[in-house]
Amino acid sequence: MNYNPLAEALNAELSANGCPVFDMLSAQGKAIFFPSKGILGQGAEAKGSEINATIGTALEDDGSPLTLPCVQKSLNLPKTSFLYCPSSGEANLRAEWKKQMIIKNPSLADKNFSTPVVTAALTHAISCAGYMFLDAGDEVIIPDLYWDNYELVFENGRGAKIVTFNTFKNGGFDTEALKAALANSKSSKKVVLLNFPNNPTGYTATETEAVEIAKILTDCAAAGNKVVALMDDAYFGLVYEEGVTRESVFTKIVDAHENLLAVKLDGPTKEDYVWGFRVGFMSFGFKGATAAQLKALEQKAAGVVRGNISNAPSISQKILLAAYQSPEYAQEKAEKYATLKKRYDIIKNVLASHPEYAESFEPMPFNSGYFMCIKPKGVDAEKLRQELIAKYSTGTIMLSGLIRLAFSAVPTEKLEKLFANIDACIRGMK
Ligand SMILES: Cc1ncc(COP(=O)(O)O)c(C=O)c1O
Repeated sequence: MNYNPLAEALNAELSANGCPVFDMLSAQGKAIFFPSKGILGQGAEAKGSEINATIGTALEDDGSPLTLPCVQKSLNLPKTSFLYCPSSGEANLRAEWKKQMIIKNPSLADKNFSTPVVTAALTHAISCAGYMFLDAGDEVIIPDLYWDNYELVFENGRGAKIVTFNTFKNGGFDTEALKAALANSKSSKKVVLLNFPNNPTGYTATETEAVEIAKILTDCAAAGNKVVALMDDAYFGLVYEEGVTRESVFTKIVDAHENLLAVKLDGPTKEDYVWGFRVGFMSFGFKGATAAQLKALEQKAAGVVRGNISNAPSISQKILLAAYQSPEYAQEKAEKYATLKKRYDIIKNVLASHPEYAESFEPMPFNSGYFMCIKPKGVDAEKLRQELIAKYSTGTIMLSGLIRLAFSAVPTEKLEKLFANIDACIRGMK
């Protein structure tokens, strides 16, 4: 395969001194590069010139962005927010997110990992990871209760194959099933995706389980496999129980083994309640990574972004940067966490004070995030979902025979009724 010389240079970094990361890349991941010598690079070189006829934005005669006042009037932001951000993202936001990652995951403080690359939110970050690490026919190992969009991203988008393992055993995460899934997959390159807090179950690994998961991944890498561990941390920080891991599993694997590439996919979508802003991040780390190797991974990720969306929304990046730097951020975030935690506590109370609900449904383990799931007893989950809308004006989601309840979206005073409706509906159907 003939690579562009810029890709060659990145690949040389990622295979220098026996570095295994080059072999973890997909064919497209090997070929991708950030076109630093193209329009963007030439534009950067011309910065500060008296006459700058390089970049495809339009400027007024005074050099300010040429904008329509009817667009501008809806924005309480400077006109510069109309301009592009770099493909890798607004530099200050990237630095700020890295700082926030360390605040939220204190054990990252002394660990080596890349600067996050900005994507157009998490779906796009997951898709970029697929581009970089999955070829058609490759397997992605995922617990069997997973966010259904992984199918479109990995199977439809990449031609990869999702291989699932059992999620829960004895009320906790089935780490043995993860270990068996790794052992059973034929290829020596293993791509694994874990999502805590989980959609749809609302489950996060306990601290003990997180240690075990990290050990399983590390042992698999130590056995000579090349392991790419994708951590979908979409709902990061929304943990409601003691003993549940507060830090991302990324912190435990980022420097665990040379053959284990940790990829953290996160962002403000759910954590900071900005679903429509479309900003997310991809960060990389592996044991012994040099600064140049981490930079090479960033450049490849930025090349993927450049090649499919060019760059993520500038307005959103500017607003988020201002928010992270504002003194109210931590306090306001704590208040919203308290709103969701209160709903979680109420649900726990409702379930505890209605033992008769156990005749109608079984709650799946949950301790975090936006959701919880129930397994209906004696009725079909899809029929139940339809009946709940038709007779009880109650909307839920049916996934893998379970009913997913997004308590994040249900007003606190309606939670009692939500479960009463489900119970009554199931009894009626039986
Ligand atoms: C587990 C999980 N990952 C990723 C996403 C995608 O988030 P975004 O809206 O940032 O693309 C979602 C959204 O529902 C999700 O539940």
